[in-house]
Amino acid sequence: MNKALITSTMLLTGASLLASLGLQATPVDDALVIDGELEITTQVKAPEGHALKELYSGWRYRTDETRAIEADSFENPGMLGVEQGEEIWNTVEGSEGKSCASCHDDAAVSMKGVGAQYPKWDADGNKPINIELQINKCRVENMGAEAYKFDKGGQKPLTAYIKHQSIGMPVTVDLSQGDMQKWWEAGKETYYLRTGQLNMSCASCHEKNQGKYIRADHLSQGQVNGFPTYRLKQNKLISLHNRFRGCIRDTRAEFPAAFSDTLMGLEVYTTWRGTGLSVETPAVRQ
Ligand code: HEC
Ligand code: HEC
Repeated sequence: MNKALITSTMLLTGASLLASLGLQATPVDDALVIDGELEITTQVKAPEGHALKELYSGWRYRTDETRAIEADSFENPGMLGVEQGEEIWNTVEGSEGKSCASCHDDAAVSMKGVGAQYPKWDADGNKPINIELQINKCRVENMGAEAYKFDKGGQKPLTAYIKHQSIGMPVTVDLSQGDMQKWWEAGKETYYLRTGQLNMSCASCHEKNQGKYIRADHLSQGQVNGFPTYRLKQNKLISLHNRFRGCIRDTRAEFPAAFSDTLMGLEVYTTWRGTGLSVETPAVRQ
């Protein structure tokens, strides 16, 4: 797409956006219980210092149909990605002749709760690390294998598999480690920064206008607790940094690279904004 076309699309989007934002609909009042037994927290009181009082999972903003798919793990197409991740977990790769399982054994035990506490401070890298980058770290340092490129190879399925081991557990970020607080601040700045021709920030849509409709989409709080999520529109698992980039692209032409400092700060901050919601990976969204 050339630049003129992008610009005209953005202006169009801006016009229809302003026209449609009047419609208000609150999140639905419904309980998510997966397979009739696993209770998922989709509403929780916000942590201190949060601009919103109540936090809602994106699940609460989706249609009856979409919500039903996530509530049944046999129906949830994201579970195929999780199964693929399990296969990769047990596959030997790299010069050391090891698989993830060689060191971490049964992920249901060793990875339980791990994904609920990322991003974490990584003292070696002197910056926050997410699950995707931790996988790469283990591949390079412990397996003698190559790092996955963004969204390539086993990155999405393996991330989904690891996060899925924490399904139902509350999201927490430990801001007391290293310089996490500084990265939180930087992420907050990005979140509220108005950019592009539409002069919008994340907060314009996901804080100020959450609950309203933007074209056919019911705007949620932009929570990150379900990633990687299965998007029905795209028929595949979508990574968090892909979603960030998509949302930023809708408001301006230039957008930061996956795993850049800007997006890592945004991951720290948005994860904190969902403190206490359950991990839902793989969530199902429109
Ligand atoms: C040679 C052993 C070894 C292999 C192989 C290995 N790891 Fe690791 N892994 C470690 C060590 C050591 C640590 C850091 C110490 C710890 O947290 O136990 C670690 C940490 C982790 C963590 C963070 C755990 C936490 O509590 O924060 C994750 C996630 C992880 N590895 C995933 C993987 C995945 C996925 C693979 C396969 C692609 C893999 N590892 C392969 C040794 C290994
Ligand atoms: C022009 C409005 C708009 C802006 C600005 C915007 N988004 Fe979004 N975002 C959407 C729409 C529409 C969706 C899909 C429906 C929903 O969940 O709100 C979405 C979805 C998301 C989701 C997925 C939620 C889920 O439950 O799976 C995340 C995460 C997200 N946005 C983060 C961000 C971040 C971070 C920013 C700022 C960099 C941002 N968005 C800026 C419109 C926007």
